[in-house]
Amino acid sequence: MGRKVLVTGGTGYIGSHTVVELQAVGFEVIIIDDLSNSTAEVVDNIEKISGIRPVFEEFNLLDSDKLTAFFGKYPDIEAIIHFAAFKAVGESVEKPLYYYRNNLVSLMNILDCMSKYKIPNLVFSSSCTVYGQPDVLPVTENTPKKDAESPYGNTKAISEEILRDTVKVTPDLNVIALRYFNPIGAHPTALIGELPRGVPNNLVPFITQTAAGIRQQLSVFGDDYNTPDGSCVRDYINVVDLAKAHVIAINRLINNTNTDRYEFFNVGTGYGASVLEVVKTFEQATGLKLNYKIVARRPGDVEKIFADTKIANTVLGWNAETSLFDTLLSAWNWEKRIRNIS
Ligand code: UFG
Repeated sequence: MGRKVLVTGGTGYIGSHTVVELQAVGFEVIIIDDLSNSTAEVVDNIEKISGIRPVFEEFNLLDSDKLTAFFGKYPDIEAIIHFAAFKAVGESVEKPLYYYRNNLVSLMNILDCMSKYKIPNLVFSSSCTVYGQPDVLPVTENTPKKDAESPYGNTKAISEEILRDTVKVTPDLNVIALRYFNPIGAHPTALIGELPRGVPNNLVPFITQTAAGIRQQLSVFGDDYNTPDGSCVRDYINVVDLAKAHVIAINRLINNTNTDRYEFFNVGTGYGASVLEVVKTFEQATGLKLNYKIVARRPGDVEKIFADTKIANTVLGWNAETSLFDTLLSAWNWEKRIRNIS
């Protein structure tokens, strides 16, 4: 039997891809998810890809009694990857307490249990949102953090502080925070991918839904930014490449090759693509014409951000491998499968 890893939020977008990559290298995965933003069918599809059905426990991490009982049932978990969190920026502005409670209390409940059950290793889902609009690009891990633009972003910044402070006083605890840039795309089998509820907020799901005829038109938010073509620039990272960074981080913790007990890494491609470039690359990859129009800027948007990935490349030995072209094609193949488009 493989070494046991708990993946919270394991039926979600990044979580499900990470479960598949963990299974591929022999880890035994146990998922906790409350299905608040995913479906149980994801477990079936993970099994279709890997041939292995992960253990799945459905509950909310705010329920500390259930969480304690869970660790009593699986005492030999060696490491945890904590994805489970709310992530809609706009919703977090509307419901700050809902976001703070969910994202922070669930993390603290997990840390309590790690201490109680002597689980030494945690990989945490953080975000480039902790940098805000940086003064200098690309952003390195040491770029000064700025005030978060939203309660969601602030939960990531505060979570990192909670982890840093907890590691300081917990000699057995080792944590790696991965700061994701913009994850996009889907598994090459098209069996798992991003499934936004309602109208997508994020660019790529909006593009694929427009191409599928579910949305009439993509609105490009602003073409008057200080960027080469005037649209915002982001670092779009393939979700499978991102998932693999988690496997490396878990191995680093389990094998004790981490040099600090609290480490954090940028996970991006190092390349900044504009919104219009993403649209054009999508058109090239799929041969489709996308209906889009330029509209006003979206409040709160950062003008441009992309990662310096040197530390992840050299220290973790991780590299983004998949091109934007192939990644956008994978996103389209996923959209086609779930909408029954041939
Ligand atoms: N965009 C459009 N039209 C759309 C949707 C997005 O033009 O319909 C543009 C945005 O203005 C932005 C870019 O596409 O320039 C990317 O937008 P996303 O919403 O996909 O991603 P963000 O960079 O705004 O947000 C992402 C994550 C957040 C995280 C943030 C940190 O979704 O969780 O990065 O910077 F907080």
